[in-house]
Amino acid sequence: MALWSGRFDGNVDEFTQRFGASLPVDKALYVQDIAGSCAHAAMLAKQKIISKADAKAIQDTLAEILHEIEKGEFVFNLNDEDIHMAIESELIKRIGAPGARLHTGRSRNDQTVTDTRLFAKKCACELMEANMGLREALIACSTEHFSTIMPGYTHLQHAQPVLFSHHMLAYVWMFTRDFLRLQHALDAADASPLGAAALAGTTYPLDRKQTAAALNFSRVIPNSLDAVSDRDFLLDLLYACSVSIIHLSRLCEEIILWSSTEFGFITLSDSYSTGSSIMPQKKNPDFAELIRGKSGRVVGDLMSLLMTMKSLPLAYNKDMQEDKEGAIDAAQTLKDCYECMRGMISTLTVHDDAMYTQAAKGYLAATDVADYLVKRGLPFRQAHEVVGHLIKLCEERSCDLEDLTLQDFQAECELFESDVLSSLDLQAITRSRTTYGGTGHKAVLAQLDEATNALCSNRKTFTSLAATIVPSH
Ligand code: ARG
Repeated sequence: MALWSGRFDGNVDEFTQRFGASLPVDKALYVQDIAGSCAHAAMLAKQKIISKADAKAIQDTLAEILHEIEKGEFVFNLNDEDIHMAIESELIKRIGAPGARLHTGRSRNDQTVTDTRLFAKKCACELMEANMGLREALIACSTEHFSTIMPGYTHLQHAQPVLFSHHMLAYVWMFTRDFLRLQHALDAADASPLGAAALAGTTYPLDRKQTAAALNFSRVIPNSLDAVSDRDFLLDLLYACSVSIIHLSRLCEEIILWSSTEFGFITLSDSYSTGSSIMPQKKNPDFAELIRGKSGRVVGDLMSLLMTMKSLPLAYNKDMQEDKEGAIDAAQTLKDCYECMRGMISTLTVHDDAMYTQAAKGYLAATDVADYLVKRGLPFRQAHEVVGHLIKLCEERSCDLEDLTLQDFQAECELFESDVLSSLDLQAITRSRTTYGGTGHKAVLAQLDEATNALCSNRKTFTSLAATIVPSH
């Protein structure tokens, strides 16, 4: 019998009952649902809306149900539409009238979004932790291969030499920004809708501040209509997940390229590679490809909720039941991808020689030769032209800039002297990029410190936020 059977003569068709149900998805929120109900019952008793004895019976029985679900002993009745009804109907079955008093001054409309907000806070927190684990691995990799030189690219063409550590730190900063986006998503979810009831508030003297505090929400949503119809916090979480998995997809793309025979910059550990069922020689970067592929799915989850929310009138609409599946999926997917990437980075082998050999090809010193002339008084545009001629000469002779003689250099410009050859040294070239944020060794060392300090300060923030996540029962 449905909880609203009073107004109905017939039961809903069996297929539509299943079609309308969200239990298969929202049963993941049982901890949050029970925490919300316990907080509501305690507040009802304190406000003398129900008796203390009823509140205790409700809380004790909910604790029993929680325990049974956790042990896998609770049998879900698939006729229950959602986790809220599954737990409430079992409560009523077990204790009768006191259980039937729990829903006083509450609607599933404020209940479902209370649970979802608590769940979103937990997801954001777990993602922040996994995000820091990945950053730690990237920082360790940058430290270990600090002075390895690789070609830096623009348009995927050799551009200027850079330190491999500098390249990896670029990803650390992307993930550092993602941490802040996740922290924002956690804060967006951190407001209590409980007590908004169906849409308009209620005639019972509820204490919304008390339930908010019991559930570790830092504030109460001021408008009951907004409380039941706002899903911005999930969009914020989905956006944070989407941007971060896009960052992961860029890193994956480089890992895939770098592990190819053409590049040969890295070798992935066997635990992060697969073979081929037909080609015995193959070692494939499957997991990097899979993370790259999963980025489509997470961005799809964001698009899906944006479209679901579009044009919805206030306040609650059943459309919004579609909110949880994508959010749960995106959070779980990103968490798994962070973890997989952390392992991949911690175990890969970096081939310093192969990177250096490639950095020595493609005239990566060209900008520095032009700068050499600029330092001797030639305007940059003219210096650019002179070096362009030298590169053309190298191409005609199929040689590198190092293979030209001083006479070759001086034939193009008399400002060249014998020290020009030292301006071609890759070590010297990278070292001289001393500007803040540049690839020079000193600048990268300072950057490494800055990235490590950001991680340490995020760890402190995380510890204090994580303490507010587990809802009290
Ligand atoms: N299962 C619903 C959801 O997740 C719960 C709220 C239902 N409210 C209602 N009036 N039908 O959105």
